[in-house]
Amino acid sequence: SFAWFAAMREAHPVFFHEGTGIWQVFRYDDVLNVLTDYARFSSNAFEDVGAFFEGTLLAKDPPEHRKLRNLVNQAFTPRAVARLADRITQITQELLDAVLAKGELDVVADIAFPLPAKVIAELLGVPDQDWDIFQRWAQADPSAPPARRLAGRTMRQEMEEYFTDLIAERRRVPREDLISALCQAEVDGQKLSQNELLSFCVLLLAAGQETTKNLIANAIVCFTDYPDVMERLRRQPELMPAAIEEVLRFLPPVWFLLRRTTIEVELGGQRIPPGQNVLVWTASANRDPAQFPEPDRFLIERSPNRHLAFGHGVHYCVGAPLARLEAKIALPLMLQRLGRLERVSGVPIMVNRGLVFVIRSLPIAFEA
Ligand code: HEM
Repeated sequence: SFAWFAAMREAHPVFFHEGTGIWQVFRYDDVLNVLTDYARFSSNAFEDVGAFFEGTLLAKDPPEHRKLRNLVNQAFTPRAVARLADRITQITQELLDAVLAKGELDVVADIAFPLPAKVIAELLGVPDQDWDIFQRWAQADPSAPPARRLAGRTMRQEMEEYFTDLIAERRRVPREDLISALCQAEVDGQKLSQNELLSFCVLLLAAGQETTKNLIANAIVCFTDYPDVMERLRRQPELMPAAIEEVLRFLPPVWFLLRRTTIEVELGGQRIPPGQNVLVWTASANRDPAQFPEPDRFLIERSPNRHLAFGHGVHYCVGAPLARLEAKIALPLMLQRLGRLERVSGVPIMVNRGLVFVIRSLPIAFEA
């Protein structure tokens, strides 16, 4: 909880948790240091969290990471993202039509879940008829804890089989989609190997859905907690981009990131031996008063707002422009078409699922 973060930032900013053997980091500056210093804090730290991310971009260090990331950046261009704007609007309108027809709204089930899933399917060029397979993967638990490692592997295998066929098709007949672009991308005469392509498709699926889903749900939590802000945003939609940044700071989808020390490191006055797991609480960094005045207030005009919701450094989220675009399109449309929103149940329960803190359901009353 945020009160616990505040206490830890004060009393134990770098804390060794005996039970789990994990070092935990709470202050903004320390979190930033860890994320910047990839040589001493390696991302190849995921074996304890789940087999799912093994071998993906997310778990690689420079220089290997750089090659992959350059290739991915080539395909994941601002133009490729901007091209999706019309589709995002269209998908959101269809979802809102269905909500209005039904007269009931669960923000998670009706909008926050299907929108990003459909957008990623669109981005990757997954055909419409495969939507139900896709939906099942989206609902399964990708970053399973160690006890469920096997489940993580099986699902990944299933995804890889699916994408093997899709990649083969796109190699034969390229289209205007990300997989075709990834097949063609080249840096220093090198292309992505089949394995690299596969793990990237799987990573996109896992990294782009649950996170964006929770950004949209968390935004509605913030707006219904601060109805005056919601009213202002309805009247002044130009404030929405800054409001989205404040949601990302205040109630981020991803609460922590994991690294592993490669050598002995001094951090916040503590000596951390090599080979240790380090968990950085980006959600705590986002509330550090040393970086954000009045950190526990939701202030949509906060500037600067250097939150760490998308990480920092070489692994900074590839999908940040896409996630922002989805939120920038969907949230104003929701406020416009649904009228005044009010939470039906009390405080929504957040469940930890891997790196993401998830809201399972968010029933909302609306007026339109
Ligand atoms: C990396 C958060 C949406 C794809 C990351 C990282 C964070 C993050 C914190 C850094 C991980 C680390 O340093 O270990 C988020 C949040 C999102 C979001 C909060 C939504 C609000 C997306 C979307 C996509 C995506 C929509 C793709 C379509 C990726 C990929 C990486 C990544 C591929 C790995 C980058 C690398 O290792 O170089 N994301 N993400 N993310 N994200 Fe996102």
